[in-house]
Amino acid sequence: MSAETRSHRAPVRTDGPLSPGALLGALGGGQLGRMFALEARRLGYRVAVYTAEADAPGADIAEHVVRAPYEDLDAVAKFARTVDALTFEFENVPAATVATAAQFTRVRPGGGLLAVAQDRLQEKATFARLGLPIGEAARVCGPEDYAEAAARIPGSSVLKTARLGYDGKGQIKLADATELPQAHAKLGGAPCVLEAFVPFVAELSIVGARGADGEVALYEPFENEHARHILDVTTCPAAVSDTVEAEARRIARALLEDLDVVGVMCVELFLLGDGRLFVNEIAPRPHNSGHLTLDAHECSQFEQQVRALAGLPLGSTRRIAGPAAMANLLGDLWANGEPNWSRALALPGVHLHLYGKSEARAGRKMGHLTVLDRTAEGARTRAREARAALVAKP
Ligand SMILES: Nc1ncnc2c1ncn2[C@@H]1O[C@H](COP(=O)(O)OP(=O)(O)OP(=O)(O)O)[C@@H](O)[C@H]1O
Ligand SMILES: [Mg+2]
Repeated sequence: MSAETRSHRAPVRTDGPLSPGALLGALGGGQLGRMFALEARRLGYRVAVYTAEADAPGADIAEHVVRAPYEDLDAVAKFARTVDALTFEFENVPAATVATAAQFTRVRPGGGLLAVAQDRLQEKATFARLGLPIGEAARVCGPEDYAEAAARIPGSSVLKTARLGYDGKGQIKLADATELPQAHAKLGGAPCVLEAFVPFVAELSIVGARGADGEVALYEPFENEHARHILDVTTCPAAVSDTVEAEARRIARALLEDLDVVGVMCVELFLLGDGRLFVNEIAPRPHNSGHLTLDAHECSQFEQQVRALAGLPLGSTRRIAGPAAMANLLGDLWANGEPNWSRALALPGVHLHLYGKSEARAGRKMGHLTVLDRTAEGARTRAREARAALVAKP
């Protein structure tokens, strides 16, 4: 049944709480949409997914699915009319799509946050306006910007396209500023940000939610390790001092409040050797590093997303179990056939989450493992072991 068949239902236009039974919509049908839909259904909501992709793991969980391009504003309007509230699961939803949907239903978080998160130039301007600590950065939109950018950031740097980057796509590392013209050409001359390379000692993320009443709930900071520019392993709690944790919380709260977020947001941070934090970027939605909240915290980031969207009180962000670690499962693990699930699941404390994607391509996020342990280090080691067990020779 498509969402259109429900169009006889009057859309709920009030801002009041939506009771279970209401129809919650998601733009995007990837793994984040799937985990949102699973939590929503557990809470008794019905779920509609609007997706442009054929292989959409979120659509498997939804009761109503619309498959159409995000640019098809008639289809978007029709979909928005049928749902009681709408959220999105990826940041590159076109602004016009969100604006159209917002004419017909409650959209959370609103388009303002999306606009900032979609554009690294706007993002940097927001951080600067709020006085949040960031590394040196310069805009590079055309050759006229090269001299100033090179003067500000002469040494090693990263050139990033302002829009449409993810998992390190649309980024080039520069040894020094002499490489800037060539790198910019490689990125198609698109509007970019040049960032000084930050010699971080660790990468952290802080996931938070803000309710319709302005209440803020933050998880403890998570520690993230990347491999080939893709998140590889997250550990919680991060091995940081109380001062660093307080600063991470201050930054997250400032952004949630300033951007008037109603929903879930993640702030990615670089931790420097001297204990300072720099803001890297924000994600206007649940984040890969927050997946371990499904197993380790009282209320997961996806349940918070549901609660904020529905206008319910946020849940507790308290950890209910010992330290936890999450290891991403990329398509590469399928290179030599089906991974050995039995062996990984025979290990104690291993929680498996698979996204139901039909095709396992290299670098594609297929699922994740969460492991709980008595120490963060133990959880991290065992998460890696469990993942290795999936492909170990007998
Ligand atoms: N200025 C920098 N200095 C050092 N390392 C950086 C810098 N910018 C990015 N990186 C590294 O590259 C990774 C990806 O960068 P960033 O988060 O900006 O891109 P992304 O494509 O949006 O990634 P994702 O979608 O996975 O978050 C960072 O997590 C970090 O490891
Ligand atoms: Mg990032």
